[in-house]
Amino acid sequence: MATFEAVCDAFARQARYCDEHGSPFTARLLRGLTQVMREGEPALQAVASWHGEPMLDALPLRVAGALHALVLEGCAPELTRHYPGGGEGLDETALSRVAVAALKAYPQVLADYLASPPQTNEVGRAAVLVGGFMTIAAHTQLPLRTLELGASAGLNLRWNGYRYRFGDSVIGEVSSPLELTPAWHGDLPPPAWPVVATSAACDQFPVDISDAAQRQRLRSYVWADQSLRLQQLDAALSAACRQPPLVEQVDAAAWIERQLHESLPEGVATVVYHTIFWTYLNADAQERIARAICTAGRVATAAAPLAWLRFEIGDFRNHPRLLLSVWPGPQDIHLADAQAHGNEIFWHGAAVDELLRTAPRHGAPATSLTIDHFGESP
Ligand SMILES: C[S@@+](CC[C@H](N)C(=O)[O-])C[C@H]1O[C@@H](n2cnc3c(N)ncnc32)[C@H](O)[C@@H]1O
Repeated sequence: MATFEAVCDAFARQARYCDEHGSPFTARLLRGLTQVMREGEPALQAVASWHGEPMLDALPLRVAGALHALVLEGCAPELTRHYPGGGEGLDETALSRVAVAALKAYPQVLADYLASPPQTNEVGRAAVLVGGFMTIAAHTQLPLRTLELGASAGLNLRWNGYRYRFGDSVIGEVSSPLELTPAWHGDLPPPAWPVVATSAACDQFPVDISDAAQRQRLRSYVWADQSLRLQQLDAALSAACRQPPLVEQVDAAAWIERQLHESLPEGVATVVYHTIFWTYLNADAQERIARAICTAGRVATAAAPLAWLRFEIGDFRNHPRLLLSVWPGPQDIHLADAQAHGNEIFWHGAAVDELLRTAPRHGAPATSLTIDHFGESP
């Protein structure tokens, strides 16, 4: 069981993270709630006496999600007045009092949000991935067969249906209701718009976006002062609602072992990809997934190549990295660094040029089996 100090520490760390990632409102809310917990507020007793690991369980974000849900549902007009967009900003003490009053009025909402981990699907990450897919298309000159691990609601399965504005350049689906406009640093990705032959995805707890309650819950986990993220999510949801993405409910290790068990199909580049997923796995699952990919890579050929594209946290001091491994090879490339929600991207064009100078090796066997992440934990 966590100590009360561990709970307070988790709130403080999450508040710092929110500050660093452009959510000063959530930071203020979490600091205010910590003060109220220290005063022994009974409405927060279940939070203060948390039984699990408060940071690993994302406890502060469960509480922030519950409060944002009350605002989005229009249940708590007083709280809404003090939320972003409501126009009346309060200091953290006054804000926490209003928040506690809302939680007291709707204790079942807090209990419901405490019962399960936050489930998000950040479409801004499609803007990070797209350069990786363009690189793979330029390198292999083949349509893509994509396999996404930990896809959540599946919104990033649709990366090729969105419009991207990188500096002055617009790429992707011009008619899309969703335009992603990250601050882009560096050269542009190679000008090869990928054709997607097939796409499939898995998640242990997929979000079913045909269900209005699940859509609203997904929205509630977006930090309340990040209106651009919410607009992007809404645009992606409205694009996807006509034909909800299929995300198979299954453990990722079992799924990818099954997907890669058969020999790689010829005429397409098989691309396994994932975003902010790896750190949620235990060591055994990480090992199984890496091994399934690397084993399949050993028999990849230029006609049936394999790529592993991942946008993952390397260490918490630096931006997450976009890494690519390709077979035949293997060749490992650090494609980009990017802010975790994809709103700023630092593209490493020189590494891509280097890859494109080497044509895919026709039928060459892989020289080694690599299962590490370029020498650093992912
Ligand atoms: C932080 S979310 C990221 C979701 C999505 N990739 C994105 O970037 O928006 C992590 C996702 O990994 C999924 N996940 C965690 N462990 C998993 C496992 N063993 N098998 C399948 N999915 C898993 C979770 O359910 C969750 O949807």
